[in-house]
Amino acid sequence: MTHSPHQIIIDTDPGQDDAVAILLALASPEVKVLAITTVAGNVPLALTSANARKVCELAGRPDISVFAGCDRPLKRPLITAENVHGKTGLDGIELPEPQMPLQAQHSVDFIIETLRNAPEKTITICSLGPMTNTAQALLKAPDIAARVKRIVLMGGGFFEGGNITPSAEFNMFVDPDAAKIVFAAGIPLTVIPLDVTHQVLTSKEWVDGLRRMDNQVGPAVAAWTDFFERYDMEKYGSEGAPLHDPCVIGYMIKPELFSGRFINVEIEADSPLTVGAMVADWWNVTGRTANAEYLRDIDRDGFFDLLSERLATYQ
Ligand code: RIB
Ligand code: CA
Repeated sequence: MTHSPHQIIIDTDPGQDDAVAILLALASPEVKVLAITTVAGNVPLALTSANARKVCELAGRPDISVFAGCDRPLKRPLITAENVHGKTGLDGIELPEPQMPLQAQHSVDFIIETLRNAPEKTITICSLGPMTNTAQALLKAPDIAARVKRIVLMGGGFFEGGNITPSAEFNMFVDPDAAKIVFAAGIPLTVIPLDVTHQVLTSKEWVDGLRRMDNQVGPAVAAWTDFFERYDMEKYGSEGAPLHDPCVIGYMIKPELFSGRFINVEIEADSPLTVGAMVADWWNVTGRTANAEYLRDIDRDGFFDLLSERLATYQ
């Protein structure tokens, strides 16, 4: 039985790995991308908004609506990651300036309006960056919490610890206050943490397979990976780059590639030492109410096979 496609809004801070997630989504009939909403994160908002459109044009999809959102976290100063993603946020390959327009409406208002106009629990938010847009939408329109089908987010890490501090992952660290609001909103959540994404390190063979693809997309992803992976290879001594954000779309397409538990997951938003840390009660020792499907394992080969199969479908 073929299911109707998941209706998704991709909330993102491109970023090379965000870009690969967007390309995977636009090549997969299992999801319908209603829109892309951008947020400040890896690089400032003007760049994430330009990068999202560059990726849509690379995908041959200038029809996709891209909305710009919050240019800073709810309470804290913006922290960016040019050291990982480069000055443009998409370093590794030069893409032409986007010709497609940026939508006039603010992402937060688009999210509110879209959720209010759609049938309840039909739209999934795929969150690939700091959760500022979603949190602002919930603050402005608390009624939408009951209307979101699910939020599937790349963020956090518990057994793996953090990547920007010893205890915090970047998306949660940049806007912990936003994450705290989202995790308390009662919305069905699926968390894809570093515990999963650090298992999907690219390999030289897999990236070389992209370089050989007879389209623009494969070589572009290979060039992004060549750039993006140097940070993790230097830091962890690993052989490749973790493809964090594509795991969110991979979950939407083939959830059977992943496994985890429904547990309580909280975000530290105050402690100077551990701000942004995700506390996953994997052994249910706190007695706190479970609020999220916390994923811990992935079929690495199945994920990379899916990703290269879909990237190869681009002309
Ligand atoms: O920590 C990894 C996450 O932070 C990914 O979403 C990456 O794009 C950055 O936003
Ligand atoms: Ca991201």
